[in-house]
Amino acid sequence: MSLARRKFDVLVIGAGGGGLRAALQLAQADAKVAVVSKVFPTRSHTVAAQGGINAALANVRPDNWHWHMFDTVKGSDYLGDQDAIEYMCRAASHLVYELEHAGVPFSRLDNGKIYQRPFGGQSQNFGGEQAARTCAAADRTGHAMLHSLYQQNIRARTHFFDEFFAIDLISNDEGTVLGALALEIETGEPLLIEAKTTLLATGGVGQLFRTNTNARINTGDGLAMALRAGIPLEDMEFFQFHPTGIAGRGMLITEGARGEGGFLINKDGERFMERYAPHAKDLASRDVVSRSIYTEVTEGRGCGPEQDYVLLKLDHLGEDVLNKRLPGITAMVKTFLGINPAEEPIPVYPTAHYTMGGIPTNRHGEVVVPVEHGEEEVPGLYAVGECACVSVHGANRLGGNSLLDIVVFGRSAGNRIIDVLKNTRYHLPLPEHSVDAAMARLQRWDQRGEGESVAAVKKELQGVMEKYCGVFRIENVLQEGLQKVLAIEARLQDVRLQDHSKTFNTARIEALELENLVDVAVATVASALARQESRGAHSRIDYPKRDDAHWLKHSLYYKEDNRVDYKPVRLRPITVETFPPKERVY
Ligand code: FUM
Repeated sequence: MSLARRKFDVLVIGAGGGGLRAALQLAQADAKVAVVSKVFPTRSHTVAAQGGINAALANVRPDNWHWHMFDTVKGSDYLGDQDAIEYMCRAASHLVYELEHAGVPFSRLDNGKIYQRPFGGQSQNFGGEQAARTCAAADRTGHAMLHSLYQQNIRARTHFFDEFFAIDLISNDEGTVLGALALEIETGEPLLIEAKTTLLATGGVGQLFRTNTNARINTGDGLAMALRAGIPLEDMEFFQFHPTGIAGRGMLITEGARGEGGFLINKDGERFMERYAPHAKDLASRDVVSRSIYTEVTEGRGCGPEQDYVLLKLDHLGEDVLNKRLPGITAMVKTFLGINPAEEPIPVYPTAHYTMGGIPTNRHGEVVVPVEHGEEEVPGLYAVGECACVSVHGANRLGGNSLLDIVVFGRSAGNRIIDVLKNTRYHLPLPEHSVDAAMARLQRWDQRGEGESVAAVKKELQGVMEKYCGVFRIENVLQEGLQKVLAIEARLQDVRLQDHSKTFNTARIEALELENLVDVAVATVASALARQESRGAHSRIDYPKRDDAHWLKHSLYYKEDNRVDYKPVRLRPITVETFPPKERVY
């Protein structure tokens, strides 16, 4: 069968903020750039980011990038790589002004400067008073950024393959990545996209869990593609549960609600965060707040008929603040719960939100893997954003640092690729057999008939992950969870698409996504089982303390033999002193 082919300098897989920021840098430098996206680009999950983007602009309270760096290192529970964190925090102000000039309609202060709100884990002067570092476009910051970046890319003539699903990376026998096989969702036709360089920007994997804030598209496609290409995933045990999802449904109520002065109460009306984080209270970091809510509920102080949530109180902020600063969540709560937050508190509970782990990269977006005496780059392959682990978030990400991560490292990866392209005139030859495995993966889902359904297996997987690998973890439960996830993996061969006339290509996509979810689920549980300490978002009841002597290291999970290995944390920043690990209190 002859396969349709296209050739580009750069293939970007994923059209969220990371992919679009990199594509823009490249297209403006006259590279021939293709962006493959399984949804129309402005439906990528960046659109759902609410609260804002961090930068030490000091528009509202004193601030500087070094304080931001300290907070990020501390927030990461000292697992973040300090060179990458320094790079990100130093670049932040420049990148925010650049977004402003690209058309992002940031909210304004009366003096015309960009509005900034307090967010969790932020401080002045290395752990002092609360900072206000999060630049916001009301509570629709990601929406504003994504639309601006998309429009800038259209102007720069980036080529978009909208509603194409990337199946797998294509490499030669030496391991150089030469592009990817994609599927046009409308027609079901495969397309081979050859590229001198390939950038993964496919986002996270919130769909691993039943209750989550993520779009249905967040199925870890890039993570699983990397695993199948023999690349390990770093720090997958660290999955962030956002403290304030709408109880039972998971939709995000931005941390900006607490930044504006909202707070959490239990069934006795007690502002319980004062007990868990006496200084930062409701603006402690997310892992701390999520654990506190979970503890309130399990100890019987939850609200509602089942006592299974807490309440987020916003009524004291008044209609004006809610309409001006939090219009999106106000409308959402009215629509989905029939509650006016200016009058009644919102039922909330921790919900799966963000993948801290991912494809190991350096701060230039190059994918790096361990070799005998150190690390080396995977030729031709780059990764940025939530699918990458650079690692600026370590064991726990601070709110407002993910929109920053995507633009900072999208730009830096773009710059590195521009350098590489200067010395890469031609595409490498692509051996015919290099597409065989990807084509076989696609053709597997031509089989129709009786068998388990994709939807049922996905639902079961999400339930298992929520029950066995949630906010608190313990050895025997994780062991059981791993066996369950491996059993689901084995059952994939019995899954079939229904054999009737209404089977669209989207059913094939859902099946391919399920395979991706299962690969990443195994990586997540195996890594969680291996790490015998509590750090950031990884809370082991059986190992309740952080253990720097043995565990100040990144995990690396390999699909080939379900093996977990380790590599050191990069503790040395670029120009400043290391922040050495110390006790983390808020
Ligand atoms: O709460 C929020 O608005 C989420 C922000 C983030 O995850 O960075």
